[in-house]
Parts: sequence; C-alpha cells; structure tokens
Amino acid sequence: MIEYETPYGEFVLKRFFSEENESLQAWDSADLYVLRYLNEHYRVEGKRVLVVNDLFGAITIPMLNAGASCFSVSDSYISRNSYIANCRNNAISRDKHFFIEETQPFPQNVDVVLMKIPKSLAHLKEQLERIKLVVNSNALIIAADKTKNIHTSTIALFEKIVGATQTSLAWKKSRLILSENQILGAETSSGDVEKLYLEQLNLDGDCLSSDGFTKDSYELDRWSLILRSRSSVFSRKKLDQGTALLLQHMAVGNGSECIIDLACGNGVVGLVAKKLNKNAHLMFVDESYMAVESAKENYLSNFNDDKAEFIVDDCLSSMKFQFGARNRIDRIFCNPPFHQQKSMGKYTAHRMFHHAFEVLGTKGELWVVANRHLGYHAILKQRFGHCETVASNSKFVVLRSTKR
Ligand SMILES: C[S@@+](CC[C@H](N)C(=O)[O-])C[C@H]1O[C@@H](n2cnc3c(N)ncnc32)[C@H](O)[C@@H]1O
Repeated sequence: MIEYETPYGEFVLKRFFSEENESLQAWDSADLYVLRYLNEHYRVEGKRVLVVNDLFGAITIPMLNAGASCFSVSDSYISRNSYIANCRNNAISRDKHFFIEETQPFPQNVDVVLMKIPKSLAHLKEQLERIKLVVNSNALIIAADKTKNIHTSTIALFEKIVGATQTSLAWKKSRLILSENQILGAETSSGDVEKLYLEQLNLDGDCLSSDGFTKDSYELDRWSLILRSRSSVFSRKKLDQGTALLLQHMAVGNGSECIIDLACGNGVVGLVAKKLNKNAHLMFVDESYMAVESAKENYLSNFNDDKAEFIVDDCLSSMKFQFGARNRIDRIFCNPPFHQQKSMGKYTAHRMFHHAFEVLGTKGELWVVANRHLGYHAILKQRFGHCETVASNSKFVVLRSTKR
C-alpha cells in the first residue's frame, strides 16, 4: 500500500471500485497541491470547511484530521461510501464530518472552500453560484485540477461568479485557482477573457432554471417526451446515440411487470419503457443524486401514478438486500457507464451484469446497449449462459440475455 503523505498526516486511501486499475492512486497531485497551499497560508482547526467534488476523501480526510468541521458535497454515492470507508480504515472520527448530497442545501457560514473542478462547465457554474451564497465574507476559495483541465473558460467563470481570481504556478502538472472571496459587495474583475469565453459558451445568461434544472432539455417526438436534466447528468443536451439504438429496438411485456432502468441518467430509457407498458412498475437507479432526481422529475411530469421508485445505489448493491428485489425483476435496461470516478474501464459494467443476474426472476431479461468494441457479449454469455444480439450499427450493439 502506498501511503498518502500530506501536511495534515499520512493515510492509506483506497480507491473504490477499480479492480482493473488497482494500481491507480486514490488521490492526485491537485489534491496534494491544495493541502500544501492551505497548510502554508491558513489554520483550519475549528473552521468550517466545504469540500466539493472530492472523489475518495483525499481532501476530506486530512481536513478532519486537522480538526476542521468538514462538509463534503458530492453528486456521487460512491464518493460518499469512499469517505466513510476511508475514514474507518484510517481511524478518523466522523463526528465533525457531514456528507451533503449535491441535491441538498449547502451549509451556511463556510470559512474555506476546497474544490476539485467538475467535468462540465454548467455543473461548475451551478456549484460556484451555490457556494457564493454560503461563504463568509472573508472566506478562502481554492479550486484545483490537472493543468490540462483548467481552461480559460474555467477561470473566466470563477472571475465572473466568485470575483478576482489568480492561478498558481503549475506543480506536478496541477494548478490552483485562488479566489480571495470578494463576493459580498466587491466588484468582480471583468476582463476581455471573461466576456469572450462566456459569450462563446452561452453560459453568460442563466443556464439554470429556478428549480435547479439546466435549460438544455431535449425532446423525443416519437414518445412525446421532454427530457430535463440537472447539470452533472450524462447527455443532458441530446439523446445519446447508443441510447437511441436501444430505444428503437427495446420491447417490454404488457402485464404489471417490474422494470429497472439501471444507470438511468435522466431516466430516458425507463420513461420509454413506461410508454410501452403503462402497467409496468419502474425502478430508476443511478449512483448520481442529480441523475436520480432528474429521472424522478421527468417521470412525475409525464406519468400520474405511484408505480415508480427512484433509488441511488452503486450498481444494484443495496437493492439486492433492501428492496426485496432479489429474483423478482422482469426486465432490466442498461446503458452502462464506461467511466467511474474519472477512471475508465469495464469493471462497473461487469458488476452491473452480475447484480442484474441476481435480481432478475426466471425468464427475466437484461438488455444492454454499448459500444461494439467493449465485447460485453462474452461476459454476458459467461454469466447468463447465452447472449443474443438484438440490433447493431457501426458503433453500437444492443444485447439481450435471459435468466433461465
Ligand atoms: C452511459 S450513462 C447512461 C444514462 C442513461 N441511461 C442514458 O442512456 O442516457 C451511464 C450512467 O451510469 C451512472 N453510473 C456510473 N457508475 C454507476 C454505478 N456504480 N452505479 C450506478 N450508476 C452508475 C452514471 O451516473 C450515468 O448516469
């Protein structure tokens, strides 16, 4: 085990779930850079620290060890579980740790914000706007990422929302964005860079509606559906091409069957399944709080019944035990993720297939859409004993396995 050496102590951090990438660390140089900078400039003991987008606890755990009250905001259920497990493994008390699902309100009176930059600019914009409302007037705001992920547009967004912003020198290919908070009452610096990029990106106006959903929705005429999404959700502006192939070919029964939309994103697949069978009971499952909330919002604005559940889970881990689902599900549709917590691989998809096998009843079907080159056919065949190709095009394949 490699030790994670920080100015606030040494820890053994585990990266969940990455069997294929066991050698990957649970932290990166940007995590360390934030901690080094903070340690040189600030005493965090007794302060209220808001940690945003920490993947496995690489910032949260040192902050707790330093005696801060630490509020970890994340959209990921897997990250939540990682903080808890890594605290336990390092004997770090969670008495002053508060996990905040990103769909919940942020805590008030924050002294320090330590942020890893999220993938989408709309997500960053939403987070910065929310942070702005909860920080104390002299709060320190530090964001970090790999240099290659910090663009002029990223900095422009900080300048616009948070105020005067500086970037640090690069260290081990990472960089910090530092904003001495001048939010309350102070002027923001409005350079050419800011104007240019925000205009180009069309993020200058409100990309968020007042209910927190992005304004980038898309419409499926054939199904009379409008899909709305929160800012971190997969393919929020348009239907994914793989999903489109699945929607063209998917079939359901006509009784009161139980269907899972596994890795549901904004719920598009489950909603179409429901259109195909109005009597079905739907379960929408994703590890992203924003995804599950988006699926719920989309379901409730299209169907007026209570035949749906909205579940945040890592694959179907807790569903196997808590929801009495074992051996009783009729159909599962899944467009599995290829990314998990910034690493790429097939491991999560494989876990999904194994969990699906456990919760399906006899004759229950698992439908999967994926890039052809991923070779999921073989793994499904291994688990279910067979696998049929329902449809394919040059890029994607729709597979079906039945539990016998
Ligand atoms: C390729 S997207 C599919 C979204 C949606 N079904 C669609 O077709 O537009 C994969 C989804 O898997 C979710 N996901 C990633 N890891 C997961 C896990 N371990 N358990 C459950 N969902 C996960 C992601 O949040 C994402 O919404």
